[in-house]
Amino acid sequence: MPMFPEYLIREVAEKNDIYDVVSRSVSLKKTGSSYIGLCPFHNEKTPSFSVSPRRGIFKCFGCGEGGDVIGFVMKNENLSFYDAVAKLASNAGIQLPEIKKEEVDRDRKRKEKSELLYAINKDAAEFFYNNVKTSQSAIDYFKKRQLDGRLVKYFWLGYAPESWTALFDYLKEKGYTESDIYDAGLIRRHESGRYYDYFRNRVMFTIFDANSNIIGFGGRVLDDSKPKYLNSPDSTIFSKGKNLYSLNIARHSKKSFCILCEGYMDAISIITAGHENTVATLGTAIGEHQAKTISRYFEEVVICYDSDSAGRNATNRAISVLRSQPKLKISVLDLKGKKDPDEYIKTYGKARFDALLAKRQSDMEYLIEYFGEQYNLKKSTEIVSYISELSNYLRLIPSSVELDVYAGIIAEKTGVQPSSVIAQVGVKRAGNSSSPGGNSDIINVVGKGTAVSDDREYLEKTRALLLSTLFYDRKLYGKYASAINEKMFENPIHILMYGYIKECFEKGENPSQTSLISKFEIKEDINTVSGILALDVQSDDTDRAVSDYINQIKQKGGTEKALRLLQEGAISLEEFNAMINNKG
Ligand code: CTP
Ligand code: MN
Repeated sequence: MPMFPEYLIREVAEKNDIYDVVSRSVSLKKTGSSYIGLCPFHNEKTPSFSVSPRRGIFKCFGCGEGGDVIGFVMKNENLSFYDAVAKLASNAGIQLPEIKKEEVDRDRKRKEKSELLYAINKDAAEFFYNNVKTSQSAIDYFKKRQLDGRLVKYFWLGYAPESWTALFDYLKEKGYTESDIYDAGLIRRHESGRYYDYFRNRVMFTIFDANSNIIGFGGRVLDDSKPKYLNSPDSTIFSKGKNLYSLNIARHSKKSFCILCEGYMDAISIITAGHENTVATLGTAIGEHQAKTISRYFEEVVICYDSDSAGRNATNRAISVLRSQPKLKISVLDLKGKKDPDEYIKTYGKARFDALLAKRQSDMEYLIEYFGEQYNLKKSTEIVSYISELSNYLRLIPSSVELDVYAGIIAEKTGVQPSSVIAQVGVKRAGNSSSPGGNSDIINVVGKGTAVSDDREYLEKTRALLLSTLFYDRKLYGKYASAINEKMFENPIHILMYGYIKECFEKGENPSQTSLISKFEIKEDINTVSGILALDVQSDDTDRAVSDYINQIKQKGGTEKALRLLQEGAISLEEFNAMINNKG
Protein backbone atom coordinates (compact mmCIF):
# COMPACT_ATOMS: atom_id res chain seq x y z
CA MET A 1 0.00 0.00 0.00
CA PRO A 2 2.64 2.66 0.86
CA MET A 3 4.01 4.15 -2.28
CA PHE A 4 7.22 5.60 -0.91
CA PRO A 5 9.80 3.74 1.14
CA GLU A 6 9.12 4.16 4.82
CA TYR A 7 12.40 5.93 5.60
CA LEU A 8 11.49 8.65 3.12
CA ILE A 9 8.05 9.18 4.59
CA ARG A 10 9.69 9.50 8.00
CA GLU A 11 12.15 12.00 6.63
CA VAL A 12 9.40 14.05 5.03
CA ALA A 13 7.49 14.14 8.32
CA GLU A 14 10.56 15.00 10.35
CA LYS A 15 11.70 17.81 8.08
CA ASN A 16 8.33 19.54 8.11
CA ASP A 17 7.73 21.10 11.47
CA ILE A 18 4.07 20.55 12.28
CA TYR A 19 3.82 23.94 13.94
CA ASP A 20 5.06 25.69 10.78
CA VAL A 21 2.69 23.76 8.55
CA VAL A 22 -0.42 24.12 10.72
CA SER A 23 0.15 27.76 11.58
CA ARG A 24 -0.03 28.67 7.90
CA SER A 25 -3.76 28.10 8.07
CA VAL A 26 -4.67 28.01 11.76
CA SER A 27 -3.85 30.71 14.24
CA LEU A 28 -2.15 29.06 17.22
CA LYS A 29 -1.41 30.18 20.73
CA LYS A 30 1.31 28.72 22.90
CA THR A 31 0.31 26.85 26.05
CA GLY A 32 3.08 24.96 27.81
CA SER A 33 4.96 22.80 25.36
CA SER A 34 2.16 22.76 22.81
CA TYR A 35 -0.04 25.14 20.86
CA ILE A 36 -3.77 25.51 20.80
CA GLY A 37 -6.24 27.01 18.32
CA LEU A 38 -9.66 26.72 16.73
CA CYS A 39 -10.08 23.36 15.00
CA PRO A 40 -10.22 23.67 11.21
CA PHE A 41 -12.16 20.40 10.96
CA HIS A 42 -15.27 21.30 12.90
CA ASN A 43 -17.17 24.35 14.04
CA GLU A 44 -16.10 25.60 17.45
CA LYS A 45 -15.91 28.78 19.45
CA THR A 46 -13.50 27.69 22.17
CA PRO A 47 -10.23 26.20 20.97
CA SER A 48 -9.75 22.46 21.48
CA PHE A 49 -7.31 21.84 18.65
CA SER A 50 -3.85 21.16 19.97
CA VAL A 51 -0.52 20.91 18.16
CA SER A 52 2.57 19.43 19.74
CA PRO A 53 5.73 20.28 17.79
CA ARG A 54 7.77 18.19 20.19
CA ARG A 55 5.73 15.13 19.34
CA GLY A 56 5.01 16.07 15.76
CA ILE A 57 1.27 15.55 16.04
CA PHE A 58 -2.04 17.39 16.17
CA LYS A 59 -5.17 16.35 18.02
CA CYS A 60 -8.58 17.95 18.35
CA PHE A 61 -10.22 17.13 21.67
CA GLY A 62 -13.50 18.41 20.28
CA CYS A 63 -14.05 16.37 17.12
CA GLY A 64 -11.41 13.72 17.66
CA GLU A 65 -9.41 14.36 14.49
CA GLY A 66 -5.74 13.73 14.94
CA GLY A 67 -2.57 12.68 13.19
CA ASP A 68 0.86 13.72 12.11
CA VAL A 69 1.92 16.47 9.73
CA ILE A 70 1.07 14.37 6.68
CA GLY A 71 -2.40 13.60 8.04
CA PHE A 72 -2.95 17.28 8.69
CA VAL A 73 -2.13 18.26 5.13
CA MET A 74 -4.32 15.46 3.78
CA LYS A 75 -7.33 16.59 5.77
CA ASN A 76 -6.77 20.29 5.57
CA GLU A 77 -6.18 20.43 1.84
CA ASN A 78 -8.23 17.40 0.92
CA LEU A 79 -5.25 15.63 -0.67
CA SER A 80 -4.51 11.96 -1.10
CA PHE A 81 -1.69 10.48 0.97
CA TYR A 82 0.52 10.52 -2.08
CA ASP A 83 -0.15 14.15 -2.90
CA ALA A 84 0.33 15.26 0.71
CA VAL A 85 3.72 13.52 0.96
CA ALA A 86 4.74 14.94 -2.40
CA LYS A 87 3.80 18.43 -1.33
CA LEU A 88 5.63 18.24 2.00
CA ALA A 89 8.66 16.69 0.29
CA SER A 90 8.89 19.59 -2.08
CA ASN A 91 8.50 22.01 0.87
CA ALA A 92 11.50 20.43 2.50
CA GLY A 93 13.51 20.03 -0.68
CA ILE A 94 13.45 16.24 -0.54
CA GLN A 95 13.77 14.40 -3.82
CA LEU A 96 11.19 11.65 -4.21
CA PRO A 97 11.82 8.57 -6.32
CA GLU A 98 9.47 7.65 -9.12
CA ILE A 99 6.61 5.64 -7.71
CA LYS A 100 4.48 2.96 -9.23
CA LYS A 101 2.40 4.65 -11.85
CA GLU A 102 -0.58 2.30 -11.56
CA GLU A 103 -1.06 3.19 -7.92
CA VAL A 104 -1.17 6.90 -8.54
CA ASP A 105 -3.45 6.29 -11.46
CA ARG A 106 -5.82 4.21 -9.37
CA ASP A 107 -5.93 6.90 -6.72
CA ARG A 108 -6.58 9.61 -9.25
CA LYS A 109 -9.15 7.53 -11.13
CA ARG A 110 -11.19 6.97 -8.01
CA LYS A 111 -11.30 10.71 -7.38
CA GLU A 112 -12.15 11.48 -10.98
CA LYS A 113 -14.95 8.94 -10.97
CA SER A 114 -16.54 10.56 -7.91
CA GLU A 115 -16.26 13.96 -9.51
CA LEU A 116 -17.93 12.59 -12.62
CA LEU A 117 -20.81 11.07 -10.66
CA TYR A 118 -21.34 14.38 -8.83
CA ALA A 119 -21.48 16.15 -12.19
CA ILE A 120 -24.01 13.70 -13.62
CA ASN A 121 -26.18 14.07 -10.54
CA LYS A 122 -25.94 17.82 -10.75
CA ASP A 123 -27.12 17.80 -14.35
CA ALA A 124 -29.92 15.44 -13.36
CA ALA A 125 -30.95 17.77 -10.52
CA GLU A 126 -31.12 20.68 -12.95
CA PHE A 127 -33.16 18.57 -15.33
CA PHE A 128 -35.63 17.67 -12.56
CA TYR A 129 -35.81 21.28 -11.43
CA ASN A 130 -36.47 22.62 -14.90
CA ASN A 131 -39.27 20.13 -15.41
CA VAL A 132 -41.35 21.62 -12.64
CA LYS A 133 -42.29 24.67 -14.70
CA THR A 134 -43.88 22.54 -17.41
CA SER A 135 -45.60 19.99 -15.22
CA GLN A 136 -48.94 21.04 -13.84
CA SER A 137 -49.17 17.98 -11.60
CA ALA A 138 -45.83 18.84 -9.96
CA ILE A 139 -46.85 22.48 -9.53
CA ASP A 140 -50.12 21.36 -7.93
CA TYR A 141 -48.31 18.93 -5.67
CA PHE A 142 -45.84 21.50 -4.38
CA LYS A 143 -48.66 23.95 -3.84
CA LYS A 144 -50.62 21.39 -1.87
CA ARG A 145 -47.60 20.92 0.40
CA GLN A 146 -47.01 24.65 0.73
CA LEU A 147 -43.70 24.57 -1.11
CA ASP A 148 -43.43 27.84 -2.98
CA GLY A 149 -41.03 28.63 -5.82
CA ARG A 150 -38.43 29.97 -3.47
CA LEU A 151 -38.34 26.75 -1.43
CA VAL A 152 -38.34 24.56 -4.53
CA LYS A 153 -35.27 26.44 -5.68
CA TYR A 154 -33.54 26.54 -2.31
CA PHE A 155 -33.89 22.80 -1.71
CA TRP A 156 -33.34 21.81 -5.35
CA LEU A 157 -36.72 20.11 -5.56
CA GLY A 158 -37.81 18.84 -8.92
CA TYR A 159 -39.97 16.55 -10.98
CA ALA A 160 -39.11 13.37 -12.88
CA PRO A 161 -41.49 13.21 -15.86
CA GLU A 162 -43.63 10.23 -16.73
CA SER A 163 -41.30 8.94 -19.39
CA TRP A 164 -39.04 5.90 -19.76
CA THR A 165 -36.00 7.70 -21.13
CA ALA A 166 -36.35 11.48 -20.74
CA LEU A 167 -33.49 11.81 -18.24
CA PHE A 168 -31.40 9.11 -19.92
CA ASP A 169 -31.68 10.91 -23.28
CA TYR A 170 -30.91 14.25 -21.68
CA LEU A 171 -27.76 12.97 -19.97
CA LYS A 172 -26.52 11.12 -23.08
CA GLU A 173 -27.02 14.35 -24.97
CA LYS A 174 -24.71 15.98 -22.40
CA GLY A 175 -22.05 13.47 -23.37
CA TYR A 176 -22.16 11.01 -20.47
CA THR A 177 -21.79 7.29 -21.16
CA GLU A 178 -24.45 4.68 -20.36
CA SER A 179 -22.24 3.03 -17.79
CA ASP A 180 -21.48 6.28 -15.94
CA ILE A 181 -25.17 7.23 -15.84
CA TYR A 182 -25.87 3.73 -14.56
CA ASP A 183 -23.20 4.05 -11.86
CA ALA A 184 -24.81 7.30 -10.75
CA GLY A 185 -27.95 5.26 -10.06
CA LEU A 186 -30.17 7.15 -12.45
CA ILE A 187 -31.09 4.37 -14.88
CA ARG A 188 -31.94 0.70 -14.68
CA ARG A 189 -31.17 -2.07 -17.08
CA HIS A 190 -33.96 -4.11 -18.58
CA GLU A 191 -33.50 -7.82 -19.35
CA SER A 192 -33.50 -6.90 -23.00
CA GLY A 193 -30.36 -4.89 -22.36
CA ARG A 194 -32.08 -1.55 -22.77
CA TYR A 195 -31.81 1.11 -20.10
CA TYR A 196 -34.68 3.13 -18.65
CA ASP A 197 -35.05 5.97 -16.16
CA TYR A 198 -35.04 4.96 -12.50
CA PHE A 199 -37.26 7.84 -11.38
CA ARG A 200 -40.51 8.36 -13.26
CA ASN A 201 -43.45 10.57 -12.41
CA ARG A 202 -42.13 11.49 -8.98
CA VAL A 203 -41.36 14.73 -7.18
CA MET A 204 -37.67 14.79 -6.49
CA PHE A 205 -35.66 15.67 -3.39
CA THR A 206 -31.99 16.31 -4.10
CA ILE A 207 -29.56 14.84 -1.57
CA PHE A 208 -26.20 16.52 -0.93
CA ASP A 209 -23.19 15.36 1.05
CA ALA A 210 -21.58 17.51 3.76
CA ASN A 211 -19.54 19.30 1.09
CA SER A 212 -22.62 20.08 -1.02
CA ASN A 213 -21.87 17.57 -3.76
CA ILE A 214 -25.05 16.06 -5.15
CA ILE A 215 -24.90 12.37 -4.30
CA GLY A 216 -28.44 11.08 -4.84
CA PHE A 217 -32.17 11.64 -4.88
CA GLY A 218 -35.35 10.70 -3.10
CA GLY A 219 -38.39 10.50 -5.37
CA ARG A 220 -41.92 10.66 -3.99
CA VAL A 221 -45.10 9.55 -5.73
CA LEU A 222 -47.68 12.30 -6.25
CA ASP A 223 -50.55 10.19 -4.93
CA ASP A 224 -50.97 7.32 -2.49
CA SER A 225 -49.40 4.63 -4.60
CA LYS A 226 -46.53 2.48 -3.39
CA PRO A 227 -43.69 2.63 -2.84
CA LYS A 228 -44.14 6.15 -1.52
CA TYR A 229 -40.45 6.95 -1.83
CA LEU A 230 -37.78 5.61 -4.12
CA ASN A 231 -34.19 6.55 -3.28
CA SER A 232 -31.05 6.40 -5.39
CA PRO A 233 -29.32 3.06 -4.91
CA ASP A 234 -26.17 3.10 -2.78
CA SER A 235 -23.08 3.83 -4.83
CA THR A 236 -19.46 4.83 -4.35
CA ILE A 237 -20.67 8.34 -3.49
CA PHE A 238 -24.01 7.65 -1.78
CA SER A 239 -24.93 5.60 1.25
CA LYS A 240 -28.39 5.71 2.83
CA GLY A 241 -26.99 4.45 6.09
CA LYS A 242 -24.18 7.00 6.27
CA ASN A 243 -25.28 10.24 4.67
CA LEU A 244 -27.80 12.65 6.19
CA TYR A 245 -30.27 14.83 4.35
CA SER A 246 -29.52 18.54 4.69
CA LEU A 247 -26.25 18.09 6.58
CA ASN A 248 -24.66 20.50 4.12
CA ILE A 249 -26.90 23.25 5.50
CA ALA A 250 -27.00 22.18 9.15
CA ARG A 251 -23.24 21.88 9.58
CA HIS A 252 -22.86 25.61 9.05
CA SER A 253 -25.36 26.48 11.77
CA LYS A 254 -23.99 28.33 14.77
CA LYS A 255 -26.41 26.52 17.08
CA SER A 256 -25.00 23.92 19.40
CA PHE A 257 -27.79 21.40 18.87
CA CYS A 258 -29.25 19.72 15.83
CA ILE A 259 -32.76 18.45 15.19
CA LEU A 260 -32.96 14.92 13.82
CA CYS A 261 -36.07 13.88 11.88
CA GLU A 262 -37.12 11.03 9.63
CA GLY A 263 -38.37 12.57 6.42
CA TYR A 264 -37.37 14.94 3.65
CA MET A 265 -40.58 16.93 4.10
CA ASP A 266 -40.07 17.08 7.85
CA ALA A 267 -36.58 18.49 7.43
CA ILE A 268 -37.78 21.08 4.92
CA SER A 269 -40.64 22.19 7.18
CA ILE A 270 -38.44 22.46 10.27
CA ILE A 271 -35.75 24.38 8.39
CA THR A 272 -38.37 26.68 6.90
CA ALA A 273 -39.64 27.32 10.42
CA GLY A 274 -36.22 28.78 11.20
CA HIS A 275 -34.18 25.78 12.32
CA GLU A 276 -31.46 25.42 9.73
CA ASN A 277 -29.76 23.02 12.19
CA THR A 278 -31.88 20.08 11.02
CA VAL A 279 -30.95 16.77 9.40
CA ALA A 280 -32.94 13.70 8.35
CA THR A 281 -32.04 10.06 7.90
CA LEU A 282 -32.63 8.61 4.45
CA GLY A 283 -35.26 5.94 4.98
CA THR A 284 -33.09 3.65 7.11
CA ALA A 285 -32.82 3.56 10.90
CA ILE A 286 -30.04 5.82 12.18
CA GLY A 287 -26.66 4.10 12.34
CA GLU A 288 -23.52 4.61 14.34
CA HIS A 289 -21.73 6.33 11.48
CA GLN A 290 -24.47 8.96 11.32
CA ALA A 291 -24.43 9.32 15.09
CA LYS A 292 -20.72 10.02 14.91
CA THR A 293 -21.25 12.60 12.17
CA ILE A 294 -23.85 14.42 14.27
CA SER A 295 -21.61 14.35 17.31
CA ARG A 296 -18.79 15.78 15.26
CA TYR A 297 -20.74 18.94 14.42
CA PHE A 298 -23.07 19.33 17.39
CA GLU A 299 -23.09 19.04 21.17
CA GLU A 300 -26.72 17.96 21.36
CA VAL A 301 -29.20 16.14 19.14
CA VAL A 302 -32.97 16.52 19.47
CA ILE A 303 -34.83 13.50 18.14
CA CYS A 304 -38.00 14.63 16.43
CA TYR A 305 -39.62 11.53 14.95
CA ASP A 306 -43.22 10.68 14.06
CA SER A 307 -45.49 10.30 17.07
CA ASP A 308 -47.10 7.04 15.96
CA SER A 309 -45.94 3.75 17.42
CA ALA A 310 -43.46 3.17 14.60
CA GLY A 311 -41.95 6.58 15.26
CA ARG A 312 -41.77 5.92 18.98
CA ASN A 313 -40.03 2.61 18.47
CA ALA A 314 -37.62 4.35 16.11
CA THR A 315 -37.02 7.00 18.78
CA ASN A 316 -36.04 4.37 21.32
CA ARG A 317 -33.74 2.69 18.83
CA ALA A 318 -32.20 6.04 17.92
CA ILE A 319 -31.46 6.75 21.58
CA SER A 320 -29.54 3.47 21.86
CA VAL A 321 -27.54 4.24 18.74
CA LEU A 322 -26.86 7.89 19.57
CA ARG A 323 -25.71 6.89 23.05
CA SER A 324 -22.67 5.35 21.34
CA GLN A 325 -21.31 8.91 21.25
CA PRO A 326 -20.24 9.72 24.80
CA LYS A 327 -20.03 13.48 24.29
CA LEU A 328 -23.38 13.86 22.59
CA LYS A 329 -26.33 15.08 24.65
CA ILE A 330 -29.59 13.51 23.51
CA SER A 331 -33.08 14.97 23.85
CA VAL A 332 -36.50 14.03 22.58
CA LEU A 333 -39.26 16.21 21.27
CA ASP A 334 -42.66 14.64 21.79
CA LEU A 335 -45.18 15.75 19.15
CA LYS A 336 -48.08 14.48 21.26
CA GLY A 337 -50.65 13.35 18.72
CA LYS A 338 -49.65 15.08 15.51
CA LYS A 339 -48.26 12.57 13.10
CA ASP A 340 -44.99 14.15 12.05
CA PRO A 341 -43.08 17.44 12.41
CA ASP A 342 -44.21 18.64 8.99
CA GLU A 343 -47.84 18.14 9.95
CA TYR A 344 -47.29 19.66 13.38
CA ILE A 345 -45.76 22.85 12.03
CA LYS A 346 -48.41 23.17 9.33
CA THR A 347 -51.21 22.71 11.86
CA TYR A 348 -49.93 24.69 14.84
CA GLY A 349 -47.31 26.98 13.36
CA LYS A 350 -43.74 27.83 14.17
CA ALA A 351 -44.31 29.43 17.59
CA ARG A 352 -45.84 26.30 19.05
CA PHE A 353 -43.12 24.15 17.57
CA ASP A 354 -40.53 26.44 19.17
CA ALA A 355 -42.29 26.18 22.52
CA LEU A 356 -42.23 22.39 22.23
CA LEU A 357 -38.57 22.51 21.36
CA ALA A 358 -37.82 24.65 24.40
CA LYS A 359 -39.54 22.04 26.56
CA ARG A 360 -37.67 19.06 25.16
CA GLN A 361 -36.82 16.27 27.56
CA SER A 362 -33.52 14.47 28.01
CA ASP A 363 -33.54 11.00 26.46
CA MET A 364 -33.79 9.22 29.82
CA GLU A 365 -36.53 11.52 31.13
CA TYR A 366 -38.44 10.75 27.98
CA LEU A 367 -37.99 6.99 28.37
CA ILE A 368 -38.91 7.04 32.06
CA GLU A 369 -42.16 8.72 31.11
CA TYR A 370 -42.75 6.69 27.95
CA PHE A 371 -42.36 3.29 29.59
CA GLY A 372 -44.22 4.62 32.63
CA GLU A 373 -47.28 4.81 30.42
CA GLN A 374 -46.81 1.24 29.17
CA TYR A 375 -46.83 -0.33 32.63
CA ASN A 376 -49.14 -0.18 35.60
CA LEU A 377 -46.79 1.04 38.31
CA LYS A 378 -49.24 0.17 41.06
CA LYS A 379 -48.47 -3.52 40.52
CA SER A 380 -45.18 -4.84 41.79
CA THR A 381 -44.70 -7.34 38.93
CA GLU A 382 -45.11 -4.58 36.39
CA ILE A 383 -42.65 -2.39 38.28
CA VAL A 384 -40.06 -5.12 37.86
CA SER A 385 -40.69 -5.26 34.11
CA TYR A 386 -40.66 -1.48 33.91
CA ILE A 387 -37.26 -1.19 35.55
CA SER A 388 -35.92 -4.06 33.54
CA GLU A 389 -37.05 -2.41 30.30
CA LEU A 390 -35.56 0.93 31.31
CA SER A 391 -32.29 -0.71 32.30
CA ASN A 392 -31.70 -1.59 28.65
CA TYR A 393 -31.20 2.15 28.16
CA LEU A 394 -29.81 3.14 31.55
CA ARG A 395 -26.92 0.74 30.98
CA LEU A 396 -25.76 2.97 28.13
CA ILE A 397 -25.10 5.88 30.49
CA PRO A 398 -21.35 6.28 30.88
CA SER A 399 -21.31 8.52 33.94
CA SER A 400 -22.21 7.21 37.36
CA VAL A 401 -23.43 10.64 38.45
CA GLU A 402 -25.91 10.73 35.60
CA LEU A 403 -27.05 7.21 36.39
CA ASP A 404 -27.57 8.16 40.03
CA VAL A 405 -29.81 11.04 39.02
CA TYR A 406 -32.09 8.84 36.94
CA ALA A 407 -32.07 6.02 39.47
CA GLY A 408 -33.36 8.62 41.95
CA ILE A 409 -36.20 9.67 39.65
CA ILE A 410 -37.20 6.06 39.01
CA ALA A 411 -37.02 5.27 42.71
CA GLU A 412 -39.42 8.09 43.44
CA LYS A 413 -41.80 6.96 40.73
CA THR A 414 -41.87 3.30 41.79
CA GLY A 415 -40.88 3.13 45.43
CA VAL A 416 -37.92 0.88 44.63
CA GLN A 417 -34.56 1.73 46.23
CA PRO A 418 -32.18 3.64 43.90
CA SER A 419 -29.47 1.07 44.70
CA SER A 420 -31.70 -1.72 43.37
CA VAL A 421 -32.24 0.19 40.15
CA ILE A 422 -28.50 0.58 39.79
CA ALA A 423 -27.97 -3.10 40.55
CA GLN A 424 -30.42 -4.00 37.79
CA VAL A 425 -28.46 -1.82 35.38
CA GLY A 426 -25.34 -3.74 36.40
CA VAL A 427 -27.06 -6.96 35.39
CA LYS A 428 -27.85 -5.53 31.96
CA ARG A 429 -24.30 -4.37 31.54
CA ALA A 430 -22.90 -7.75 32.46
CA GLY A 431 -25.44 -9.86 30.62
CA ASN A 432 -27.01 -9.59 27.24
CA SER A 433 -28.93 -6.39 26.59
CA SER A 434 -32.00 -8.10 25.23
CA SER A 435 -32.59 -10.56 28.05
CA PRO A 436 -34.63 -8.85 30.71
CA GLY A 437 -35.08 -10.34 34.10
CA GLY A 438 -31.71 -11.70 35.06
CA ASN A 439 -29.78 -13.94 37.28
CA SER A 440 -29.66 -12.97 40.90
CA ASP A 441 -26.25 -14.58 41.36
CA ILE A 442 -24.85 -12.12 38.90
CA ILE A 443 -26.39 -9.26 40.83
CA ASN A 444 -24.25 -10.27 43.75
CA VAL A 445 -21.00 -10.15 41.89
CA VAL A 446 -21.49 -7.24 39.56
CA GLY A 447 -24.08 -5.36 41.52
CA LYS A 448 -21.81 -2.36 41.56
CA GLY A 449 -22.57 -1.89 37.89
CA THR A 450 -21.21 1.60 37.54
CA ALA A 451 -18.08 0.85 39.43
CA VAL A 452 -17.22 -1.93 37.03
CA SER A 453 -17.67 0.24 33.99
CA ASP A 454 -15.80 3.18 35.49
CA ASP A 455 -12.95 0.80 36.25
CA ARG A 456 -12.87 -0.28 32.67
CA GLU A 457 -12.66 3.25 31.38
CA TYR A 458 -10.02 4.12 33.94
CA LEU A 459 -7.96 1.10 32.98
CA GLU A 460 -8.07 1.92 29.29
CA LYS A 461 -6.85 5.40 30.11
CA THR A 462 -4.07 4.04 32.31
CA ARG A 463 -2.92 1.72 29.55
CA ALA A 464 -2.89 4.63 27.12
CA LEU A 465 -0.87 6.74 29.55
CA LEU A 466 1.62 3.94 30.01
CA LEU A 467 2.09 3.55 26.27
CA SER A 468 2.37 7.29 25.70
CA THR A 469 5.00 7.64 28.40
CA LEU A 470 7.08 4.73 27.16
CA PHE A 471 6.87 5.87 23.56
CA TYR A 472 8.87 8.99 24.37
CA ASP A 473 11.22 7.57 26.98
CA ARG A 474 13.78 4.96 26.07
CA LYS A 475 15.30 4.89 29.57
CA LEU A 476 12.00 4.20 31.29
CA TYR A 477 11.21 1.51 28.78
CA GLY A 478 14.54 -0.14 29.52
CA LYS A 479 13.92 -0.01 33.23
CA TYR A 480 10.43 -1.53 33.12
CA ALA A 481 10.60 -3.70 30.00
CA SER A 482 10.63 -6.93 31.95
CA ALA A 483 7.58 -5.92 34.02
CA ILE A 484 5.43 -5.22 30.97
CA ASN A 485 3.94 -7.73 28.58
CA GLU A 486 1.39 -7.89 25.81
CA LYS A 487 -1.21 -9.54 28.06
CA MET A 488 -1.63 -6.29 29.96
CA PHE A 489 -3.39 -4.80 26.95
CA GLU A 490 -6.76 -5.71 25.45
CA ASN A 491 -7.44 -3.14 22.80
CA PRO A 492 -5.86 -4.22 19.48
CA ILE A 493 -4.58 -0.69 18.98
CA HIS A 494 -2.78 -0.80 22.31
CA ILE A 495 -1.36 -4.22 21.52
CA LEU A 496 -0.03 -3.04 18.18
CA MET A 497 1.41 0.11 19.71
CA TYR A 498 3.10 -1.85 22.48
CA GLY A 499 4.58 -4.25 19.92
CA TYR A 500 5.88 -1.35 17.88
CA ILE A 501 7.53 0.40 20.85
CA LYS A 502 9.14 -2.83 21.96
CA GLU A 503 10.43 -3.63 18.50
CA CYS A 504 11.94 -0.16 18.04
CA PHE A 505 13.73 -0.06 21.37
CA GLU A 506 15.00 -3.59 20.96
CA LYS A 507 16.45 -2.66 17.58
CA GLY A 508 18.04 0.40 19.18
CA GLU A 509 15.83 2.83 17.25
CA ASN A 510 13.52 5.54 18.52
CA PRO A 511 9.84 5.08 17.83
CA SER A 512 8.47 7.51 15.24
CA GLN A 513 4.94 8.93 15.27
CA THR A 514 4.73 8.80 11.50
CA SER A 515 5.81 5.17 11.24
CA LEU A 516 3.39 4.17 13.96
CA ILE A 517 0.46 6.06 12.44
CA SER A 518 1.20 4.61 9.01
CA LYS A 519 0.47 1.15 10.42
CA PHE A 520 -3.19 2.08 10.69
CA GLU A 521 -5.57 2.58 7.81
CA ILE A 522 -8.90 3.36 9.42
CA LYS A 523 -9.41 7.01 10.28
CA GLU A 524 -10.88 6.21 13.70
CA ASP A 525 -7.81 4.17 14.61
CA ILE A 526 -5.47 6.94 13.46
CA ASN A 527 -7.39 9.39 15.63
CA THR A 528 -7.17 7.04 18.61
CA VAL A 529 -3.43 6.56 18.20
CA SER A 530 -2.89 10.31 17.83
CA GLY A 531 -4.90 10.81 20.99
CA ILE A 532 -2.57 8.45 22.86
CA LEU A 533 0.51 10.15 21.45
CA ALA A 534 -0.88 13.51 22.54
CA LEU A 535 -1.54 12.44 26.13
CA ASP A 536 0.36 14.54 28.59
CA VAL A 537 1.49 12.69 31.64
CA GLN A 538 0.78 15.05 34.46
CA SER A 539 3.54 13.95 36.72
CA ASP A 540 6.96 15.32 37.55
CA ASP A 541 8.04 11.87 38.47
CA THR A 542 7.41 9.82 35.34
CA ASP A 543 9.35 6.90 36.73
CA ARG A 544 6.98 6.63 39.65
CA ALA A 545 4.00 7.17 37.33
CA VAL A 546 5.03 4.26 35.10
CA SER A 547 5.44 1.92 38.01
CA ASP A 548 1.99 2.96 39.30
CA TYR A 549 0.42 2.39 35.89
CA ILE A 550 1.90 -1.09 35.69
CA ASN A 551 0.66 -2.02 39.14
CA GLN A 552 -2.83 -0.69 38.49
CA ILE A 553 -3.16 -2.51 35.19
CA LYS A 554 -1.99 -5.77 36.72
CA GLN A 555 -4.37 -5.47 39.65
CA LYS A 556 -7.53 -4.15 38.10
CA GLY A 557 -6.91 -5.85 34.78
CA GLY A 558 -7.54 -9.21 36.38
CA THR A 559 -11.03 -8.24 37.53
CA GLU A 560 -11.85 -6.68 34.21
CA LYS A 561 -10.74 -9.68 32.27
CA ALA A 562 -12.68 -12.04 34.50
CA LEU A 563 -15.79 -9.96 34.05
CA ARG A 564 -15.42 -9.95 30.30
CA LEU A 565 -14.99 -13.73 30.24
CA LEU A 566 -18.11 -14.05 32.36
CA GLN A 567 -20.06 -11.83 30.01
CA GLU A 568 -18.91 -13.85 27.04
CA GLY A 569 -19.99 -17.02 28.79
CA ALA A 570 -16.42 -18.35 28.62
CA ILE A 571 -16.28 -19.04 32.36
CA SER A 572 -18.80 -19.99 34.99
CA LEU A 573 -19.75 -17.83 37.92
CA GLU A 574 -17.73 -20.13 40.14
CA GLU A 575 -14.64 -19.71 38.02
CA PHE A 576 -15.27 -16.00 37.97
CA ASN A 577 -15.30 -15.80 41.75
CA ALA A 578 -12.14 -17.88 41.91
CA MET A 579 -10.37 -15.58 39.46
CA ILE A 580 -11.33 -12.46 41.37
CA ASN A 581 -10.28 -13.87 44.70
CA ASN A 582 -6.98 -15.29 43.50
CA LYS A 583 -5.74 -12.20 41.79
CA GLY A 584 -3.61 -11.38 44.82
N1 CTP B 1 -38.91 6.45 3.09
C1 CTP B 1 -38.33 5.69 2.11
N2 CTP B 1 -39.06 4.77 1.41
C2 CTP B 1 -40.38 4.59 1.68
C3 CTP B 1 -40.98 5.34 2.70
C4 CTP B 1 -40.21 6.27 3.39
O1 CTP B 1 -37.16 5.84 1.83
N3 CTP B 1 -41.07 3.72 0.97
C5 CTP B 1 -38.07 7.42 3.81
C6 CTP B 1 -38.08 8.79 3.18
O2 CTP B 1 -36.78 9.34 3.36
C7 CTP B 1 -39.11 9.55 3.97
C8 CTP B 1 -38.93 8.98 5.35
O3 CTP B 1 -38.57 7.63 5.12
O4 CTP B 1 -38.90 10.94 3.91
C9 CTP B 1 -40.12 9.08 6.24
O5 CTP B 1 -41.18 8.34 5.72
P1 CTP B 1 -42.69 8.72 5.98
O6 CTP B 1 -42.88 9.18 7.37
O7 CTP B 1 -43.54 7.59 5.46
O8 CTP B 1 -42.93 9.86 4.96
P2 CTP B 1 -42.99 11.42 5.17
O9 CTP B 1 -41.60 11.94 5.28
O10 CTP B 1 -43.95 11.79 6.21
O11 CTP B 1 -43.48 11.82 3.73
P3 CTP B 1 -44.72 12.60 3.30
O12 CTP B 1 -44.91 13.68 4.32
O13 CTP B 1 -44.30 13.10 1.97
O14 CTP B 1 -45.83 11.64 3.23
MN1 MN C 1 -45.04 13.54 6.39
